[in-house]
Amino acid sequence: MKKIIRIVKWTGLSLLLIICAICIAVPLRQHLKFDAPYPDIHASKDSAVIARGRHLVISAAHCVDCHGNGNQDSMMKLGKDVPLSGGYAFELPLGNVYAKNITPDIETGIGKRTDPELARVLRYGVHANGDAVFNFMPFQHTSDEDLRAIISYLRSTAPVKNQVPDHQLNALGQSIRAFMVKPVGPTEPVPVSVKPDTTAAYGKYLVFSVANCRGCHTQRQLSGEYTGPLLAGGNPMGEKELELAPPNLTTDSSSRIFGWSKEKFIGRFREGKKIEFSHMPWESYNRMTNDELTAIYNYLQTVPAAKIVTPAKGK
Ligand code: HEC
Ligand code: HEC
Repeated sequence: MKKIIRIVKWTGLSLLLIICAICIAVPLRQHLKFDAPYPDIHASKDSAVIARGRHLVISAAHCVDCHGNGNQDSMMKLGKDVPLSGGYAFELPLGNVYAKNITPDIETGIGKRTDPELARVLRYGVHANGDAVFNFMPFQHTSDEDLRAIISYLRSTAPVKNQVPDHQLNALGQSIRAFMVKPVGPTEPVPVSVKPDTTAAYGKYLVFSVANCRGCHTQRQLSGEYTGPLLAGGNPMGEKELELAPPNLTTDSSSRIFGWSKEKFIGRFREGKKIEFSHMPWESYNRMTNDELTAIYNYLQTVPAAKIVTPAKGK
């Protein structure tokens, strides 16, 4: 009996110590500093480069969808450029994470950042101050040329003063940040340049490294790691009754796009968003050219047939 009491006492004490250690460690680990190389990428003033950057920002790379001012779709329909002044709050189980102001404003935007610092955020997931970036952006393998075009466009936009709040993380969010959030960088060599054309190779580049189709349409763990078969359907997103799962886009007979002709596929993008609360950035994608959508279609036709075995739970 005494022995049991002693064991209970010691396990209790050890647990208490572990909890204390976590309570002390979590606040100390909120701003861990990480290192990553600065890509040798510099903005250009060439109008063709800026135009390429603008096109990526408002279409395939859909920066405007997250960093816009909330009115992006109606503004774009009126032919106006959207200020990338940020402020949108992603309300997640870990708290609120805000999309930053990426206009050239000196105090509240990216005016003080150097080009290599911006390129490092996008490629290596490390902020200028060394903090890890929450993994929202899939640009680790975006080519040097396209990153340069994107940064050139950002530099060409008008500065907008808009102080975006710091992320507000709850206890869970702070623990995740302390122990799990690490910068996500490239896992293979990054191309210097990828020629835009209608080939499946270019389509794959868009699906993986620019438009993030893979990121939503493939099952993943909370940490971002891919667990399901490539493009066989993603984790359900959205609140309870508004939950939607990104469907299967492989060549499997259960795929949403099984048997779709190229015309039907492109036509679906031209129709835009049909389900009001869908998280897919349909309006940005609708600004992709027919050639870009053809490349994506051609790539999807080469994806091995697969289906999800165990559907993932929503958040
Ligand atoms: C799915 C939403 C999403 C998309 C798409 C997106 N971003 Fe972001 N971006 C964020 C969030 C959220 C943060 C803040 C992350 C953090 O602080 O950890 C961020 C941070 C940044 C930062 C860091 C700003 C700073 O002050 O350090 C830059 C630069 C940036 N994004 C540029 C871009 C560009 C350029 C694109 C398109 C090529 C883009 N983003 C697309 C959500 C997005
Ligand atoms: C932010 C997550 C997200 C991204 C990124 C995304 N999708 Fe989706 N997709 C969804 C969701 C959720 C649905 C289901 C709701 C809907 O149809 O809008 C969907 C539906 C679809 C559909 C079926 C539409 C229909 O009418 O049945 C197709 C096709 C599709 N996505 C293709 C793509 C392609 C191609 C890309 C990349 C260019 C992409 N998606 C990127 C989340 C995403």
